[in-house]
Amino acid sequence: MGAPMAGGPSTPALAAAVSGAGGLGMLASAYQSAEALRENIIATRTAGAEIFGANLFVVNEFDVDTPALARYREHLADLAEPCGVSIAESATFDDDGYHAKLDVLVDAALAVVSFTFGLPGDEDIARLHGAGTAVGVTVTNHEDARSAAALGADFLVVQGPNAGGHRSTFDPRIEPPARPLPDLLADVAADVDLPVVVAGGLSDRADVDMMLSLGAHGVSMGTALLRTPEAGTKSAHRRALTDPAFTETVVTRAFSGRPARGLRNRFHDELGPIAPAAYPQVNTLAGPLKSWAAANDDPQLTNLWAGTGWRSATEAPAAEVITGLLG
Ligand SMILES: Cc1cc2nc3c(=O)[nH]c(=O)nc-3n(C[C@H](O)[C@H](O)[C@H](O)COP(=O)(O)O)c2cc1C
Repeated sequence: MGAPMAGGPSTPALAAAVSGAGGLGMLASAYQSAEALRENIIATRTAGAEIFGANLFVVNEFDVDTPALARYREHLADLAEPCGVSIAESATFDDDGYHAKLDVLVDAALAVVSFTFGLPGDEDIARLHGAGTAVGVTVTNHEDARSAAALGADFLVVQGPNAGGHRSTFDPRIEPPARPLPDLLADVAADVDLPVVVAGGLSDRADVDMMLSLGAHGVSMGTALLRTPEAGTKSAHRRALTDPAFTETVVTRAFSGRPARGLRNRFHDELGPIAPAAYPQVNTLAGPLKSWAAANDDPQLTNLWAGTGWRSATEAPAAEVITGLLG
């Protein structure tokens, strides 16, 4: 599975290339309108893909530490000021257009829809099943795996601690589990009788073979595709992935209020220690600075999502990457 990667990297061209090479291409749907999602689905089909999927964030509302959010906003505004970027006074909760996007996905009758950050409603699953769509849920521990199975999910994406981008913890306030992926897979397999796709820090054929030998039914890889020409990875991000100045990845709430792994940079160093668990409020407040940095090619002030295997990512075409993994 070509992991869904919101914020640019997942494009119709990437999903079509992954599916065309024998993988399962995935579109992301976060941070875009339902209409844009519909257009991306059409574009992926136009590019020749028949079997592919899409991912949807389940953004639930949690209590926010308001003073901590105000403190974060103040520091963010200080960081943004020299760039001429102003930061809104406050940000409110929104669910990223969940229902409108779900309608698009039901209409599109895709092969697969996966959910991240939480569980879909049982009616949502029923509607997708009615459209002939297999439903996956991304989980980071075996309790969430059990909940997803009880709800009627068809498969799980078990995401380990080395994954690039957001961790799919259902409650953004908890620390994401550090349990290594093979152990997590064993926990889930002991508890839940569903096909499991594993994700997180997998880079090459040996990683794939190892996870399959441990009982995974599939693997999902994101970082390995970030540098492919089909990915819509922004230029500052793309360049940082090969820049020796970036020496480690960190899990941080600095950019969005949810834990996510990326290359360590100034934004993380300044705001990571004080960023509250407030999603999507932190994401909304930080948006203008991240956009400014992306537009100005500044890798220090935008998120550079990457899994721990980032150094293995190549700029080969996606089909070549997938073919190399399938062997
Ligand atoms: C740039 C980027 C964006 C991501 N966006 C999403 C997303 O929209 N939905 C989702 O379920 N996972 C998202 N993820 C996580 C991936 O689906 C997957 O779990 C992860 O890439 C696997 O780890 P790897 O990057 O080490 O291969 C993203 C990952 C990256 C690197």
